[in-house]
Amino acid sequence: MPKRVLVVATRNRGKIEEIRSFLSGFDVEIRSMDDFGPIPQPVEDGGSFEENAYKKASHTAKMLGFPALADDSGLVVESLGGEPGVYSARYAGAGATDEANNRKLLSAMEGMANRKAAFKCVISIAVPLGPALTYEGSCEGEIAPGPRGENGFGYDPVFYYPPLEKTFAEMTAEEKNAVSHRGRAMKELRSEFDKVLVWLKQRLGD
Ligand code: IMP
Repeated sequence: MPKRVLVVATRNRGKIEEIRSFLSGFDVEIRSMDDFGPIPQPVEDGGSFEENAYKKASHTAKMLGFPALADDSGLVVESLGGEPGVYSARYAGAGATDEANNRKLLSAMEGMANRKAAFKCVISIAVPLGPALTYEGSCEGEIAPGPRGENGFGYDPVFYYPPLEKTFAEMTAEEKNAVSHRGRAMKELRSEFDKVLVWLKQRLGD
């Protein structure tokens, strides 16, 4: 029997390889958007990570006719009322660099005693028609007084994780994956993936 195809709704090679390795051993063929021609992109204008992840997964599944997986993530800062949240990638404006986003965050946090923050990640798996499955992961930490470390991307240099006494940018990829929002959501997905395959079979009727 041919393997179940699951399209990962991203062109980010790092993410695709990460998902391939998390789901290795399961009877599934992970395809990337690069295995297909160009398709219109959905507008990521949802008010929550769940909504955006679902939009991306469902749109991709509908366009390509295969089940699709998408994730959406970002940083939620308690004393900023949850900002930057779904605007994490464009906090300092459309097309903002990571440095600009970090600068804006650090200046918004100036003088704030409560520096609690969490990274959140939602993974959605959708079929061409109907509902989706959702997996979530989060990682709690604090906004550091200034950037530290050279690794990672995005807000990693300003996200301090107290249990390891390091920012995410001071961690190795392995250290970060073991505790990060995305790593935790992926682990949850992997632990349930047998059930996901059964769910897909039922929904797709094959
Ligand atoms: P995406 O949903 O994975 O595209 O992430 C949206 C934005 O959230 C990114 O552009 C980053 O600014 C931020 N972000 C998400 N995950 C991480 C992370 O692991 N480290 C640092 N920043 C992150």
